[in-house]
Amino acid sequence: MKVDGKDIRPIWYNQDSGTVQVIDQRFLPHEFIVEDLTTTDDVIEAIKDMYVRGAPLIGATGAFGVYVTLVQANNKGNDDEYLINECKRLKDARPTAMNLFWGVDRVMKTALSQASYAKRVEAALNEALEVVEEEAQNCRKIGEYGLSIVREISEKKNGKPVNILTHCNAGWLACIEYGTATAPIYTAFDNSIDVHVWVDETRPLNQGSRLTAWELGKHGVNHTVITDNAGGHLMQHGMVDLVIVGTDRTTRAGDVANKIGTYLKALAAKDNHIPFYVALPSSTFDWDITDGIADIPIEERDPDEIRFVQGDCNGEIKNVLVPPKDSPAANHAFDVTPARLVTGFITERGVCKATENDIMSLFPDKIKSDL
Ligand code: MRU
Repeated sequence: MKVDGKDIRPIWYNQDSGTVQVIDQRFLPHEFIVEDLTTTDDVIEAIKDMYVRGAPLIGATGAFGVYVTLVQANNKGNDDEYLINECKRLKDARPTAMNLFWGVDRVMKTALSQASYAKRVEAALNEALEVVEEEAQNCRKIGEYGLSIVREISEKKNGKPVNILTHCNAGWLACIEYGTATAPIYTAFDNSIDVHVWVDETRPLNQGSRLTAWELGKHGVNHTVITDNAGGHLMQHGMVDLVIVGTDRTTRAGDVANKIGTYLKALAAKDNHIPFYVALPSSTFDWDITDGIADIPIEERDPDEIRFVQGDCNGEIKNVLVPPKDSPAANHAFDVTPARLVTGFITERGVCKATENDIMSLFPDKIKSDL
C-alpha cells in the first residue's frame, strides 16, 4: 500500500543488506521506525512485544523467522533437532493467532526437506517470500469478494455512504497488503463507492485509533474513531450498515477468535439485524478444532498494557498511568465469537456461511492438520 506516495509493506526482505526488516508498529502513528530482525531472538521479541502484530503478519514474520534462524545457525544449520527446537521457540511467541504456527511450520518443512545447509537457507528464504506474496494476493481476493457485499448495501442506500464498523486493526499493517477486514473497504473506495468507517479505538493498545485510523487516513478513506463501547449505540440508531472484522483463529465450524471486544460487537449486531462479516485468509483457519470457546488459547498479556496509556505529548511518546497505582488489572487479549453470530466469512476463495459444511465446501482440500 502507499504511504505518502511510497509503496510500503509492514515486512520485507532487504536484498542490499540481506536482512529482514519490519515497521515497528509500537510507535505508529507518531513515529515511523524500521527495525532489522537478524536473530531468532529478534524475531521472537518483535512478535511478543508487538513490533509486528495481526494474524497474517505474525505468520509472515514467523516464516521469515525460520530463514533468520538458519542464517544465524551456521554449522548447526544441518542439525534437524536444533532447527525444530528453534522453530518451537518461534511458535511460542504468541498463542492465539493460527498463522504463526502455519507460517513457521510451512517454512520449516521446506527447509528440512533439503540436504545441504546452503540449500536449506536458500529454500527457507524462497518459501518465506512465497508466503508473503501469497498472503498479499489472498487479501487482494478478499477485497474483490467483499466488494459485492459493500456494493449491494450502497445500491440499497442509493449511493449514500455505507457505514462500516471495524474493530482492532485488520488492515495492511496486520497483513501484507490491503488487510483482511479493510480489503473490501479499500476495494469499495477504489471503485468510487462512498464508504465511512467507524473505527473502534481497541483498548488497551489502541490498534484501531493508532493503526486503522492512520491507514485509512493515508488512503483517503472517511473514518471516525469511536470508543470501544459506542458501537451498540450507533447500531441502535441506524448508523452502522455493516460490521467487518478480522480474526486470529477460526475453527472449521466457524467460531472466531479476534481482539477482545469483538464478541460484544457481534452480539449488538445480531440484536440490531446488522450483517457481521469476518474476513480471513485460509491460513487463519484451524482445521483441527470445532469448539472455539473450549479449544482456542486466549493470550493474557502484561496488565501494565491496561494500566498505562501511550500517546504523543508535545512530540514525545509517553506512557501515562490511569488507574490507582495499586489496582490490579487483567489483560485478556482476545475473545471468541460463536459461529451463530457470524453472518459469513469473506475468504480468498469466496464468501461462505459460518457453518462447517459451507466452510469445508469452499476448502475441500483442507484436511485436519494439513499445512
Ligand atoms: O493483538 P493483535 O494486534 O495482534 O491482534 C490483532 C487482531 O485481533 C486482528 O483483528 C486480527 O489479527 C486480524 S488481522 C488481519
